Amino acid sequence: VTIQWFPGHMAKAIRQFEENIGLVDIVFEVIDARIPYASQNPEVARITGEKPHLFILTKKDLADPRLTQRWLDSFKSKGQPAIAVDAKTKFNIGNVLSVISPLLSEKLAREEQKGMKKRPIRAISVGVPNVGKSTVLNRLVNRRAAQVGNRPGVTKGQQWLKAGKELELLDTPGILWPKFESQETANKLALTGAIKDSVFASDDIALFGLNHFRETNPGQLKERYRLSDSDFDLSDVDLLLVITEKIGMRDDYERASNRIIQDIRGNKLGRFTLDDPEKVNQNDETDH
Ligand code: G4P
Repeated sequence: VTIQWFPGHMAKAIRQFEENIGLVDIVFEVIDARIPYASQNPEVARITGEKPHLFILTKKDLADPRLTQRWLDSFKSKGQPAIAVDAKTKFNIGNVLSVISPLLSEKLAREEQKGMKKRPIRAISVGVPNVGKSTVLNRLVNRRAAQVGNRPGVTKGQQWLKAGKELELLDTPGILWPKFESQETANKLALTGAIKDSVFASDDIALFGLNHFRETNPGQLKERYRLSDSDFDLSDVDLLLVITEKIGMRDDYERASNRIIQDIRGNKLGRFTLDDPEKVNQNDETDH
């Protein structure tokens, strides 16, 4: 069953994004480095149009480093600006400015030549739930000194915040809905926490996760749940039942499923990335 979930506040958020796009120089789309494809929202590119669009891949510390590098290479080969960051600890305004300043220096210089006042770059950040939008904003902005105040045109109740001298950000990140183009995409969003736990069946998501780790990191799966080699001959469902028993939950496979999901999200089975740039590109090509 495909998960369907589209709360009203997200329809409002995209309307606000459409209202505010004219005021910004660049859009920051925050995506999760573990699912750089599944956590994109296709509406962002449409609404952003010709303006620069920077992907900020958060949770680099949780993702598979080799795949993160391949994603960055893939974006680079398409001329798509992207940076990967650990937004919680190792991230600051310099990481962003070094990439976006060159993209906008000509535009700002042209304005100055026309006699307009020198001004900071203005940006809005958007993304699906739980990717790290607030964390990114808080790292970029010094809240105490931040408020620039209202300016004409900005959606009521929203403000520009100063991020250093050269950047201003709209204070409310746009929360967009995750895409549900396939069950697989929905599973990836659920496993990483972009879809609320209440809207999916935990055993489906745990099975999806187990299937991924038995392919990519069987050693760690084996160690974590004290599995034997022969357990790997079992189907995913039977493997889940074995793990349920091994972690002392008897036949409560639902509780065990939640534990497995928490283990995966907490990197107890190792760093992981669920989207592969080459596979996504192949899909793109077969779509057209
Ligand atoms: P949102 O605004 O897009 O909804 O996301 P938010 O910033 O609230 O971040 C969602 C969760 O992801 C938070 O965890 C946050 O700490 C975590 N997070 C964001 N960026 C990174 C990152 O680069 N690396 C890691 N490891 N985590 C990141 P939480 O469990 O909800 O809160 P907390 O336990 O961190 O306080």
